[in-house]
Amino acid sequence: MNPAPLLKALALSLAIGLATAASAADPNATCMMCHADASAKGASGKSIAVDAARFAKSVHGEMQFKCTDCHADVSADKLPHPEKLQPPVCASCHEQAVKDYTGTPHGKARADGKTLAASCANCHGAHDILRSKDPASRTNHVNLEQTCASCHGNEALIRKANIPGGNVAGQYHDSIHGRLLHEKGPRQAMAPECTDCHGTHNIRAKSEKASRVARANIPTTCGSCHQREKIVFDKGMHGKMLQAGNVAAPVCTDCHTAHTIQETTRPQWQLAVIGQCGNCHDDFISSYRLTYHGKVTNLGFANIATCAACHGAHDVRPASDPLSKVSAENRLATCRNCHANAGPKFASWDPHPQPANKERSAILYYTSIFMQVLLAGVFIFFGLHTVLWAYRSLRAALARRRGGQ
Ligand code: HEC
Ligand code: HEC
Ligand code: HEC
Ligand code: HEC
Ligand code: HEC
Ligand code: HEC
Ligand code: HEC
Ligand code: HEC
Ligand code: HEC
Ligand code: HEC
Ligand code: HEC
Repeated sequence: MNPAPLLKALALSLAIGLATAASAADPNATCMMCHADASAKGASGKSIAVDAARFAKSVHGEMQFKCTDCHADVSADKLPHPEKLQPPVCASCHEQAVKDYTGTPHGKARADGKTLAASCANCHGAHDILRSKDPASRTNHVNLEQTCASCHGNEALIRKANIPGGNVAGQYHDSIHGRLLHEKGPRQAMAPECTDCHGTHNIRAKSEKASRVARANIPTTCGSCHQREKIVFDKGMHGKMLQAGNVAAPVCTDCHTAHTIQETTRPQWQLAVIGQCGNCHDDFISSYRLTYHGKVTNLGFANIATCAACHGAHDVRPASDPLSKVSAENRLATCRNCHANAGPKFASWDPHPQPANKERSAILYYTSIFMQVLLAGVFIFFGLHTVLWAYRSLRAALARRRGGQ
């Protein structure tokens, strides 16, 4: 008979007995007997080491929590414990957080057995959980981007877990908000990171009505910081439509995007917005492109009237509204922002000409008919001219040949 297993078991129960005696001082000493060893591994090869010093500095360690507060299915009195244990519990103390999390895309995916979605430990850590206000915490304002980016900025994982949106963390990183977050100084605290727009334990997919990034809620979410723009937007035509429940109206992200937001003074962005307006107002962009303003912006220069330069950005209104920047009352003043010397007649120039519309664009209509007739005339005249010329050359050549024989 091999005495080794028996000896081992005896030694173990002796050690556990000693540790249990010691555990009056440190209730976790029993567990740390095996888990303090930095090289300790489980059967699957995964490390089972627990860094006692780090745990002691964590929010739970500071309060001298027992290992079994979280690993509730293990008991210091019943060792050795089974190889496979239940996931640690948080709900016994953080009921609300667990409840909120359960309904989110992360919580639902986890419940469906998809282990790539964020768990409590993915965002907070396990034995090293710190309060969010601690600068070293994973959930501290400045570090959160990195925490979310460990998945939403990880191309391989995005593909594997089929995460919607792609590498949004990379996009955010280079946006005006992301750049502000990396700016050392007092303004850093003002920059929105992922959870300012998405929430934390109440993250929802954009398709869910309760989501902070659902279309109808976006102005409120952005407006929590951009109050001035939100107030103006709400009073304009687009904002009013949205309040009436019309989701055909544009929201902040249609013009600014969600994760690649840039300074609005950037010419490239100003030119891109023209295309956004045009996506919904196709008649007006095509007429705009016929004008000097529209041709110049089409060539890539933004130093000229864009849609927003005439209509405003957040307070667009029908031309019949006296408050509109292009109303009969305000139109000249709007032109004069750039055409400082414009006389009263200047504003009667049509910024949205329709050459095919006789009533609206009479001069253009007749000019364009004249040009078409002229064009056709030129073709007919010179076409005929060429044919006759060819006939004459042919005859002359034939005559020369006959004369030569
Ligand atoms: C006699 C040594 C020993 C003691 C004492 C011990 N463990 Fe373990 N523990 C192990 C080993 C070995 C594993 C790896 C099991 C495996 O995966 O093969 C493990 C794994 C674990 C795991 C991971 C389980 C999983 O499913 O991956 C947890 C959690 C754990 N122990 C908690 C505790 C707690 C809490 C205590 C104290 C009450 C404790 N252990 C005491 C040896 C011990
Ligand atoms: C605040 C709750 C909490 C406390 C207290 C706690 N753990 Fe854990 N433990 C966790 C979490 C969370 C995980 C990670 C589970 C996962 O990744 O799925 C974990 C994982 C483990 C593992 C598996 C290996 C690993 O690191 O992933 C071991 C072993 C373990 N804990 C042992 C201990 C021991 C020993 C103590 C006491 C010193 C302890 N735990 C205290 C929450 C806790
Ligand atoms: C997607 C990342 C993420 C996940 C997943 C997550 N949290 Fe949080 N949690 C945060 C962030 C960020 C904060 C800080 C919020 C703040 O400062 O306003 C936070 C705050 C907390 C707080 C302190 C404030 C409060 O709401 O009471 C607790 C406790 C907490 N989380 C527990 C949990 C538990 C338990 C789970 C798992 C059920 C979990 N968290 C899952 C990101 C996450
Ligand atoms: C036995 C009760 C208990 C358990 C179990 C527990 N916690 Fe805690 N946790 C606390 C207490 C108490 C605090 C300190 C709260 C405070 O001081 O505001 C805390 C603090 C936290 C904080 C810091 C909150 C902040 O202020 O930013 C986070 C995050 C957290 N716990 C997450 C977890 C997670 C994740 C789990 C599960 C793996 C867990 N806790 C398990 C009791 C518990
Ligand atoms: C451990 C990896 C991981 C971390 C960390 C993580 N996520 Fe996720 N996230 C996922 C996965 C995987 C999904 C897809 C879940 C599914 O299958 O529906 C997802 C889904 C989402 C969705 C829903 C997308 C949709 O429209 O369905 C949002 C929003 C989101 N995460 C935001 C965040 C934010 C914000 C953070 C940081 C506070 C974060 N995530 C941290 C892995 C992660
Ligand atoms: C300024 C607000 C804001 C910030 C900051 C922000 N998001 Fe978003 N996010 C949104 C909005 C709004 C949407 C809705 C989709 C859209 O309009 O493009 C969205 C959509 C998403 C989606 C779903 C994409 C899809 O197509 O379904 C994920 C995942 C996501 N965000 C993760 C993140 C992560 C991770 C971060 C931080 C690195 C982050 N977001 C930062 C506003 C923001
Ligand atoms: C947590 C606060 C916060 C939230 C939420 C937020 N922003 Fe910002 N945003 C800022 C700050 C701070 C700046 C930097 C302003 C500066 O540099 O002066 C900024 C800058 C901008 C700029 C550039 C302004 C310029 O000067 O040209 C735009 C556009 C913008 N945000 C749009 C949005 C949109 C759209 C949303 C919602 C999807 C949003 N923001 C959500 C705080 C926020
Ligand atoms: C229809 C397109 C459009 C929509 C919708 C829109 N914006 Fe703008 N936004 C613009 C344009 C164009 C500018 C540039 C204005 C300028 O140069 O005078 C701008 C400028 C800004 C600025 C820079 C400061 C300023 O006022 O010039 C911020 C911040 C901003 N928008 C936030 C928002 C927020 C928040 C929302 C939603 C409530 C929103 N925008 C909706 C087109 C839009
Ligand atoms: C997501 C689509 C969308 C975008 C983007 C958009 N609009 Fe609109 N806008 C509408 C809708 C829908 C109306 C309601 C009137 C209609 O049906 O034509 C409207 C109304 C207007 C009106 C009032 C005209 C009227 O017929 O009463 C003006 C002016 C206007 N938009 C200008 C702009 C400008 C300038 C931009 C870009 C800076 C822009 N819009 C971007 C959808 C959009
Ligand atoms: C040079 C100034 C100017 C520019 C640039 C301009 N518009 Fe206009 N827009 C006007 C004026 C003036 C009117 C009113 C015309 C009228 O009375 O029929 C108008 C009318 C409109 C209307 C209809 C308003 C109503 O009440 O019926 C829409 C929609 C519109 N513009 C969208 C756009 C879009 C989209 C762009 C850019 C592609 C654009 N505009 C560029 C000056 C401008
Ligand atoms: C954001 C500035 C801006 C606004 C607003 C603007 N324009 Fe212009 N426009 C220009 C620039 C720059 C040119 C290029 C030629 C020049 O400098 O006069 C131009 C050219 C023109 C031209 C053709 C060239 C010429 O001088 O004959 C006409 C016509 C014109 N604008 C009419 C208008 C009318 C009418 C309005 C008001 C409804 C208006 N513009 C509003 C900047 C603007």
